[in-house]
Amino acid sequence: MISIALSKGRILDETLPLLKAAGIVASENPDTSRKLIIATSRRDVRLIIVRATDVPTYVQYGAADLGIAGGDVLAEHGGSGLYQPLDLKLARCRLMVAVRRGFDYEQAVRQGARLRVATKYLQTAREHFAAKGVHVDLIKLYGSMELAPLTGLADAIVDLVSTGNTLQANDLIAVEEVAQISARLIINQAAFKLKRAVIQPVLDALTRAVK
Ligand code: ATP
Ligand code: PRP
Repeated sequence: MISIALSKGRILDETLPLLKAAGIVASENPDTSRKLIIATSRRDVRLIIVRATDVPTYVQYGAADLGIAGGDVLAEHGGSGLYQPLDLKLARCRLMVAVRRGFDYEQAVRQGARLRVATKYLQTAREHFAAKGVHVDLIKLYGSMELAPLTGLADAIVDLVSTGNTLQANDLIAVEEVAQISARLIINQAAFKLKRAVIQPVLDALTRAVK
């Protein structure tokens, strides 16, 4: 038996058709079911439904053998104990620095000003600004990052941008790309050795489905 950790919402919506193409069909709709462990059309594969940010943790500790998580979440987690063999090319977006329209980001950076940056991606943001030699005070938020520059909590945010609609609706503009993001398959390294006979065909089928 292998378990695949998935999160509800965007990633699940895009992942279910991919799993189906790989011959794995959920026995009930995880988006509407209150069940957290869901059987599939394959007796040896089950789905575990967790928060997006918890997917790498379940897989790292072997509570799930496989998982599907965004590159943003994986970068924050650090990837310890995880094998990341496949970019699923789903839930694509970009992690960006954004500021209030009218705020001169380039000038602030040039002057060596100390920027206040609000984000849920503390680790990734810290590395990004350190590599650029920009001094920042990071403020951890758990959502609605766009509010931070509008309320004076921060000068800038680091957040995901896809269509750009959320930034535009809040009079913010993206000024710098931090990373390109997509969902990836992750596998517990020990499980990949011990359960290779079951995991490898699933990996192969998903690889074909992505293509
Ligand atoms: P939680 O509900 O646990 O706080 P979340 O709100 O981050 O998690 P989702 O919004 O479903 O969960 O996002 C899951 C993943 O989808 C993110 O980690 C990211 O990789 C990707 N994602 C998030 N927002 C977008 C977007 N606007 N466009 C494309 N992909 C996105
Ligand atoms: C994500 C992200 C942005 C938005 C960007 O939020 O945090 O707010 O999508 O997408 P856009 O560029 O297409 O507007 P999400 O919709 O997942 O809401 P959340 O903050 O509740 O996770």
